[in-house]
Amino acid sequence: MTKTYTVAWPLWGALCLLLAACEGRNASEPVTTPEPRIKASEATLTLYNRSCISCHASGAAGAPRTGDAAAWAARIDQGREMLLKRTKSGWIGMPPMGMCTDCSDEQFIDLIEYMAQTPISKP
Ligand code: HEC
Repeated sequence: MTKTYTVAWPLWGALCLLLAACEGRNASEPVTTPEPRIKASEATLTLYNRSCISCHASGAAGAPRTGDAAAWAARIDQGREMLLKRTKSGWIGMPPMGMCTDCSDEQFIDLIEYMAQTPISKP
């Protein structure tokens, strides 16, 4: 009996968060998965789906995951120049150009901001 409840409630909480069904209704539950602040354009999503997704969706090889702003925070803090440099030349587990050989600097920035859900404010 007790066991069912202890298992069921956290599950229901997780479901609510996933469906965003309880948003604004249960003030005691912290909202950990807000709506994406940065939405990617069709063009950016196409590039993302062609290249970055293979590692950044799953976190393969330790890649910071798409939508996980916390995992990206320190990286975003490095600023535009360093992020572009590492993306283009490759960085630890990431191949040069993140496997998007025809991406431009602007496209990389769009992709990074989308994945990090954080605008890059530093140059
Ligand atoms: C083959 C796997 C793979 C692909 C494809 C990939 N990445 Fe990555 N990426 C990684 C890994 C692994 C890391 C984390 C490296 C580390 O340990 O710091 C990373 C880190 C990054 C970082 C942070 C670098 C830093 O300074 O900390 C940026 C920016 C980035 N990727 C952008 C991209 C973009 C943009 C694309 C698509 C065009 C992409 N990645 C595609 C594996 C990948």
